[in-house]
Amino acid sequence: MIDVLIIGSGGAGLTAALNAKKEGANVVVISKTYPTHSQTCQAQGGINAVLNETKGDSVETYINDTYKASHKLGNKKNIEYFCTNSKDTISWLDSIGVPFSRNSESNISQRKFGGTKAKRTCYSSDYTGLKILHTLYDQCLKENIEFYNEHQLINLITENNTVRGITALDIQNTQVKEIKAKTVILATGGYAGIYNGFTTNSYSSTGDGIACALKAGAKISNMEFIQFHPTALENKNILISESARGEGGYLVDSEGNRFIDELKPRDEVARAIYKKYEEGKKVYLDLRHLGLNKINEAMPQERRLVQEFMQLKMEEDLIPINPSAHYSMGGIITNIETKSSIENLYACGECSQSGIHGANRLGGNSLLEIITFGKVAGINAAKKAKDENIIEKKEGKQFLSDKKNIENIFTNDVKIDFYKRKKELGKLFFKNVGLFREEKPMKDLLGQVLEWKDELSQIGINDKSKIFNKNLTDLIEYKNMIELAHTILLSAITRKESRGAHYRTDFTDESVEYDRNTILFMDNNSLNINLEEIL
Ligand code: FUM
Repeated sequence: MIDVLIIGSGGAGLTAALNAKKEGANVVVISKTYPTHSQTCQAQGGINAVLNETKGDSVETYINDTYKASHKLGNKKNIEYFCTNSKDTISWLDSIGVPFSRNSESNISQRKFGGTKAKRTCYSSDYTGLKILHTLYDQCLKENIEFYNEHQLINLITENNTVRGITALDIQNTQVKEIKAKTVILATGGYAGIYNGFTTNSYSSTGDGIACALKAGAKISNMEFIQFHPTALENKNILISESARGEGGYLVDSEGNRFIDELKPRDEVARAIYKKYEEGKKVYLDLRHLGLNKINEAMPQERRLVQEFMQLKMEEDLIPINPSAHYSMGGIITNIETKSSIENLYACGECSQSGIHGANRLGGNSLLEIITFGKVAGINAAKKAKDENIIEKKEGKQFLSDKKNIENIFTNDVKIDFYKRKKELGKLFFKNVGLFREEKPMKDLLGQVLEWKDELSQIGINDKSKIFNKNLTDLIEYKNMIELAHTILLSAITRKESRGAHYRTDFTDESVEYDRNTILFMDNNSLNINLEEIL
C-alpha cells in the first residue's frame, strides 16, 4: 500500500516527496506530464528570503511586506512561519545543489522585486525555477522515488470525508486506474491557464487538483484573486521577469514617458499598463541603459526569448509588453500543517490557499511557498500514514463510475467543439474577470459558463484511439476549467469591493465588510459560497 501519494511533480510535489521519503514513507508521485516539464521551471526571477538581518532587511520587515501585499487576507501565523523559515529553506536548497548566483564574496546574490524595499530575492540567473526543479528531481532519482508519469488525475476517492486514493487515466493506453493510498498530497498547481491565450502559464495549468478536491467535498477559497504579471511579451504572453525591472529596467509609453514606479506591487503596475492600452497607447520595457554585459549576466533567458519571439535586442530596442494572467492566489484551503478539510488530504503550492498571499502575491514568494509547504506536507502526510491501517478494497464506486464516464466520452456525439470553447473562455475571462471587473458582464458570463457546464457530460471526441489520446486528456482538463470558471465568477461577483488583484469598477474601495476569505464548497451537488473570518 502506498503511504503518501503525491499528485503533481513541480517544486511542491518533489519537495513533499523527498521529505515524506526521509520520514520512511513509501512514496509515489503522479504527473500528467514529466517532472521536468512542470510549471515551476517557468519561474524566472527568484525566491525570497531574509539571509542576513544586518543588510537592510529583517524577518519582521518581510512579514510586514507579505501581509501588506495580502491586503489583510493573509493569515498572520502562517506568514510568520513562512518568513521566519525562509533562510533555512534557502540553505536546504543550497545544500542539495541548487546553483544560486553568487556575489564576489561567494554569498548568494539577492535582487529587488516589487512591493518591498529590500533586496530579498535569491536567484539563479533568470532560470531560478528551472534550476530548483531539476535539482529536486535529481534528488528524487537518487532517493529512488517512484514516478507514474503521464497519469492524469480524474477524481479523488473518498469515504466518510476521508481520502482513500485517486482514480487516474494512464495516458499511454487510456486505462482508468484506481490507486489507493493512506494519504494524498495535492500539488497540482494553479488555474491561470483558464485565461487561455492570455496567460504566461503553460496550458496545462488547469486547476485539476482544485476541481477534484471541490468535487470530493473539500473547501476551496479566494478563487477571485488572479495575479496579472505586468510584463509579458506583447501578444505572445511569454513572461519577462520582474527581475528586468528589479535590475533597473523602465516602463515607458508610446511617447517614451515613464508613467509609474516600476516596482510598485504587480496589481498596480499591471492596471496602469492596461489603462494605457485602453487609451490606444502601447507600453514598452526599456532596458537599453543597462548594457549588454548586465543583461547577459542577469537575464540571459529573457534576452534569448525577446530575440527569438520578437526579433528584437534588449540592449538596443524597446520591448513591447502587456499584462498577462500569471498566478492564481485561490485554491484548496489549508491550515499551517497543509491539511485540507478532507481527512488525510493535504495540499501545497499553487493549488492551495495557505493563507500566505491573500489578495495579492509578492513576486518571489511562490517559489518559497512551494518549498516551505512542500516540506510540511511531506512530513505530515508521512507521519499520518503511519497511523493508518487500511484494508485495500478494489474497484470501488468511484473507479467504476469514472471508467464508465470515460467509455461514454468515446461514444458521445461530437457536436460541441470544446477547443473553440476553451479559447472563448480565455478571451471572455480576460475581458470580464481580468484586471477590471464589473457586476453585469460577470453575471452574463456566469450564465454562459453555466450553460457550458450543463453540456459537459454530453461532449464527445473525434479521436477514438486508445494510445496517447490528447483529445481525451484535453477534454478532462476542459471540464476542470469549467468547474473552476464557475467558482471564480461566483467569488468575484460576491466580493463587492476592490482589493489587491480583484479590482471592481463598480466598487472601487476596499471594504472592512470583506476582510474575509471567500469559501466555496459543494452541498447536494450545488456550489455554495460563504465569507469567513481569517483564523
Ligand atoms: O517575474 C518573475 O520572475 C516572476 C516571479 C514570480 O512570479 O514569483
